[in-house]
Amino acid sequence: MSSLAKNYKRRNLSFSKGRGSFLYTKGGAKFLDFVQGIAVNSLGHTNPSLVQAINKQSNKLWHVSNSFKIPEGEELARKLTSKTFASAVIFQNSGAEATEAAIKVARRYFYSLGQSKKNRILCIKNSFHGRTIAAINASGSKKMTEGFGPKVGGFDHFEFGNHVELKKKITNKTAAIMIEPIMGEGGIKVIPTWCLKEIRKICDKKKILLILDEVQCGIGRSGKFFSYEYANIKPDIVPIAKGIGGGFPIGAVLMTKKVSKAMVPGTHGSTFGGNPLAMSVGNAVMDEIFKKGFLSRVKSNSRYFISELNKIKNKFPKIIKEIRGVGLILGIQLHHDQTKFIDDLLKNKLLTIRAGENVIRILPPLNVNKKEINLGLKIINKVCTEYKN
Ligand SMILES: Cc1ncc(COP(=O)(O)O)c(C=O)c1O
Repeated sequence: MSSLAKNYKRRNLSFSKGRGSFLYTKGGAKFLDFVQGIAVNSLGHTNPSLVQAINKQSNKLWHVSNSFKIPEGEELARKLTSKTFASAVIFQNSGAEATEAAIKVARRYFYSLGQSKKNRILCIKNSFHGRTIAAINASGSKKMTEGFGPKVGGFDHFEFGNHVELKKKITNKTAAIMIEPIMGEGGIKVIPTWCLKEIRKICDKKKILLILDEVQCGIGRSGKFFSYEYANIKPDIVPIAKGIGGGFPIGAVLMTKKVSKAMVPGTHGSTFGGNPLAMSVGNAVMDEIFKKGFLSRVKSNSRYFISELNKIKNKFPKIIKEIRGVGLILGIQLHHDQTKFIDDLLKNKLLTIRAGENVIRILPPLNVNKKEINLGLKIINKVCTEYKN
């Protein structure tokens, strides 16, 4: 009997070792891991550079309070700002904390301008921004908010892709639009470039802020450091987490200089956020991702993976409806419920994870190689063949 609460539907499967793209059970069974902790282990399991960074730092200093300077955090913030739109960073520990912080920053910005009534956040209906009370209300999902009332106010919603509704929902109380450029949990739904551009224009016209939640699709996962870069736009606030820690819990909110001015001492904080141990790992992740050729390899592997997946789709059009995604945040949408298909992939030692709209999410490490991609493709093809017979 487990003493853990039953809030997860766990598989009867556990692992004792991970190396790169693979997980191993105690009994020695080897699984190709295309979940990677849900887009967390950006460099695979036990990446040597990360192991070295964590070992080195763990012998020096783990944690100090944010009331002191933390050079490792200064360094990571410098790396993040030098590579992105942002001028300032606040470190957190998770994605939900990062999105919450993003909401706080947006509200505080208008408060600092004397416009405290401008505090509502407009989000896509049934999006995903985490599991805290504010984040579930931001998602507007009935399933996620059920039983967790009272409803937290301050959020409005529009349907994915409905720009008419989006424009209608903006009032003089709207502070920001918050969206995921690629909706991960929602089913790897990529917001088209033209749409992101349009939303940026709307925000500029209405003088409201644009928050792009890159918790799942950021940190190189799309083949660019941030997925919104494909649209050639600049956001005002970006929450990140998952991939930046490579398996160590790190979250952060990135913001422009203009917006950051509102975050004066005492406005936000976190005991653990930005501690030396976490920051050392984050720095090592950034160094790997910005090594020459790393992101272009993500893109070329992605092109290969997507084109091969489409070949499988064309072979089995009655099973696979659509191949979705950008970079290495990919989805296979089935015509029917994906539960059995995911179970069959697992039986063949390939780990994947579900998302909305009958989608099987494929999230390999960003440094996955062609041989591993081919192994994954072979298993997907085999499971499709078995379905047909
Ligand atoms: C887009 C997005 N935002 C926020 C979160 C919440 O992150 P966490 O689970 O680390 O709190 C997630 C998690 O899946 C996510 O995909």
